[in-house]
Amino acid sequence: MKELPTLAFLPFLALTNVFVKTCAAPPVRPVLTGPGMAYLGSTALFSCAAPGASSPLTYDLTLDGVVTRTSRRAERPASFALRVTERSGGSYRCLATGGGGAGASDSVRLTVVTPPSNTRVTSEPSPPVVYEGARVTLSCVVTRGSHLSYTWLFNRSEITSPSSSFNLQGNTLEIAQAAPEQAGLYSCMAWSRIGDVSRFSSSSEILVTVKVYVSKPRISFSVFKEGDGYRGNVTCWSRRGSPPLNFSLSVDDKEVGSVTAAERPAAWFSVAVVPGLDMGDARCQVSTDVQELTSDSVTLEVVPVGGAAKVEVEHLYRADSKLAAIILTCGVSRGTFPYVSWLYNDSVLPAEAHAEPLFQPVLPQYVLADRGRALVLAAPGPRESGYYSCRVRDSYDEAGPWVESPAALVHVTDRILNSMPRATPSPETPQNVHISSLEVITMAFCCFLLLMLAVGVACVYAMLHHRHGVCLPVNVRNSDALPLSAPSRVDTSAERDVQNQNQMVEMSL
Ligand SMILES: *[C@@H]1O[C@H](CO)[C@@H](O)[C@H](O)[C@H]1NC(C)=O
Ligand SMILES: *[C@@H]1O[C@H](CO)[C@@H](O)[C@H](O)[C@H]1NC(C)=O
Ligand SMILES: *[C@@H]1O[C@H](CO)[C@@H](O)[C@H](O)[C@H]1NC(C)=O
Ligand SMILES: *[C@@H]1O[C@H](CO)[C@@H](O)[C@H](O)[C@H]1NC(C)=O
Repeated sequence: MKELPTLAFLPFLALTNVFVKTCAAPPVRPVLTGPGMAYLGSTALFSCAAPGASSPLTYDLTLDGVVTRTSRRAERPASFALRVTERSGGSYRCLATGGGGAGASDSVRLTVVTPPSNTRVTSEPSPPVVYEGARVTLSCVVTRGSHLSYTWLFNRSEITSPSSSFNLQGNTLEIAQAAPEQAGLYSCMAWSRIGDVSRFSSSSEILVTVKVYVSKPRISFSVFKEGDGYRGNVTCWSRRGSPPLNFSLSVDDKEVGSVTAAERPAAWFSVAVVPGLDMGDARCQVSTDVQELTSDSVTLEVVPVGGAAKVEVEHLYRADSKLAAIILTCGVSRGTFPYVSWLYNDSVLPAEAHAEPLFQPVLPQYVLADRGRALVLAAPGPRESGYYSCRVRDSYDEAGPWVESPAALVHVTDRILNSMPRATPSPETPQNVHISSLEVITMAFCCFLLLMLAVGVACVYAMLHHRHGVCLPVNVRNSDALPLSAPSRVDTSAERDVQNQNQMVEMSL
């Protein structure tokens, strides 16, 4: 039973045997496998197999037609380990011979990849120091290397592409219009990858400096006492500008000093001053390698405090006509550097209000503004009532004479107070509630006038229409209800007045 199928195959086996015998030299078809790319200095493995070959074969590996390696009488697929050099790149084939046959494989092209080395950043301009708005181009340069990609780092973090602030192309990074935020440390990394093997080389960091143009300088001065005399401290400064900046001071167009500001865009000059004398017109000049700017001039004249002092009282009201704040302002006839001190019921108010809460029951609640020249009673109440006066002296002379103002009486009545929430002071700032008592009176008067005019118009209108036999109720006072073609001159002029009044009231609101 078991032999029957075998017997059935016999004719086929015999046929096959005949076929093999007649084709004594079978064609050899070697197959070459190997890498397409390899790093210089690495080992590239090629393997050549001739599937179906019965007898041992000789394999030759050729590079661009020249035999480089041979493997004799190999039973199994032959493998070749090649050390990759500059000359290893090219087209490889495998030739298999033996058993009376020979064959060549398809070609495998090997590309030699040179790992990057000695990477550095070059810049245009060099060194990379530019003014804002200028272009900076950085290039990532390697001494050796092929098949490279580039990664750029700014302050140690990678710049991803595409980027809004940088143009990345090939091995260059371009900052088209440098901004101060783009100043910092740049470095690059050149790299390549074959399979999961990558080789990279990083550059050292290069500092890109973006300088800011200097703005027009400003000038101011203060005075201080030095021994028996006085000196002026002139400040020259710019709002922006990258140091180093050369500041110079000239008085009456004669240079009196120059300073190189290395850190901040500011410089100070000490000049002699005599109170009461005009020492001339001073100007500051600032210069850089590309700019030269001059300030406005300031007259170096110190007028000592003198004449009379005066306190002005201003009441501020909220929208609901309640008293919001009282502002007392101290004025003096003359004085370039006045120092103001306030008195309440003849005792001096400390410049730092409410440093100690223990004083609160005695002293009024106040805030000083405008360098002490204004005293603000932000929550006026009966406690703030009293006599206020100010005295002024030269700020540069602590022992100098005072000019004292007459006292101004501030009287906060209970009537105003009762209509004010005392426990919860208004969160509104006094600036938001600028309605003085004069404005309130004006508004009331305007309303009254408007009402009178409206009543007048209604009366005239009613009278006229009564005469024409048209009976209209007297309370129709809306100007829209008036016939526009009304014949009476009195009628139209009155109407115009009403409209003018309307406009006026709207504007003053
Ligand atoms: C980059 O680094 C520089 C120097 O350390 C620093 O001055 C600059 O503020 C940094 N810029 C940013 C955007 O981080
Ligand atoms: C001038 O004023 C500046 C700023 O207030 C100060 O730093 C500087 O020391 C002053 N110079 C003199 C000579 O007093
Ligand atoms: C600033 O002043 C220094 C010293 O006086 C001088 O050497 C330098 O050239 C000046 N720089 C500029 C931009 O004027
Ligand atoms: C200040 O003087 C006024 C008016 O004489 C008086 O009403 C008020 O109580 C005085 N205030 C203090 C704290 O003495």
